Amino acid sequence: MKVIIRNNAKEGGVWAAHYIASKIKEKAAVTDKPFVLGLPTGSTPLNTYAELARMVAAGEVSFKNVITFNMDEYVGLPEEHPESYHSFMHKNLFDHIDEPKENIHILNGNAPDLNAECAAYEQAIVEAGGFDLFMGGIGEDGHIAFNEPFSPLESRTRVVTLTQDTREVNSRFFGGNPEAVPAQAMSVGVATVLSAKEVLILAFGSKKARALASAIEGPMSHYNTVSALQSHPAGIIVCDEAAIGEVKVNSYRYFKAVEAAENR
Ligand code: PGA
Repeated sequence: MKVIIRNNAKEGGVWAAHYIASKIKEKAAVTDKPFVLGLPTGSTPLNTYAELARMVAAGEVSFKNVITFNMDEYVGLPEEHPESYHSFMHKNLFDHIDEPKENIHILNGNAPDLNAECAAYEQAIVEAGGFDLFMGGIGEDGHIAFNEPFSPLESRTRVVTLTQDTREVNSRFFGGNPEAVPAQAMSVGVATVLSAKEVLILAFGSKKARALASAIEGPMSHYNTVSALQSHPAGIIVCDEAAIGEVKVNSYRYFKAVEAAENR
């Protein structure tokens, strides 16, 4: 894996936006096939979404031929709830870019048959041609999407039960009450994320430092599902100085040296 270290979350987020835009344009230059992009919610991608919105407004990139799939959604939360991932995505990205409405895919956490909804989602990803790039964040417990500790690394889209830790972390969006955070969610699996041609993981802030260090230096493990990135042929982590703070000094120097050599 490659690790890109920026001074802060803003710079890391902007780097990720430019990387995604360059990949969209690279594909558009050689084929009419759509670019298929996996997207996260959370605080982590906000700078990236703001920069992508700016770039679309400035005519620097277009999402007209991009198909997106979001990685997760709460079960049982009305779509119009301000904390649903439907609301989040429209507010922070889709309302500001030129992606056609029919290209937007978000799991329906109120579907009458949740398992059928998950199976149909996997099928829709295949029909779209599979992911060119999947962007994700990481949880303080090392989760990727809502693949909590002990999720199978071979998992696909399914209904998951959130850990108490995750409900506590996310309670900041629900009036500080962990009980108000839905107990279940639907989430793409670890294997769904890893099926992408490229995986771009963002991690900012010291709260992510322990999970990030074990994802990078620890064994690949269902205990820290983002560690599965170690097996991906094209995995990139974009982080800030605070989030990379727990890796060994030599690992840090290695990542910096590789980036400097590649930019020479
Ligand atoms: P955050 O969440 O971006 O709000 O920190 C990331 C995650 O839980 O995956």
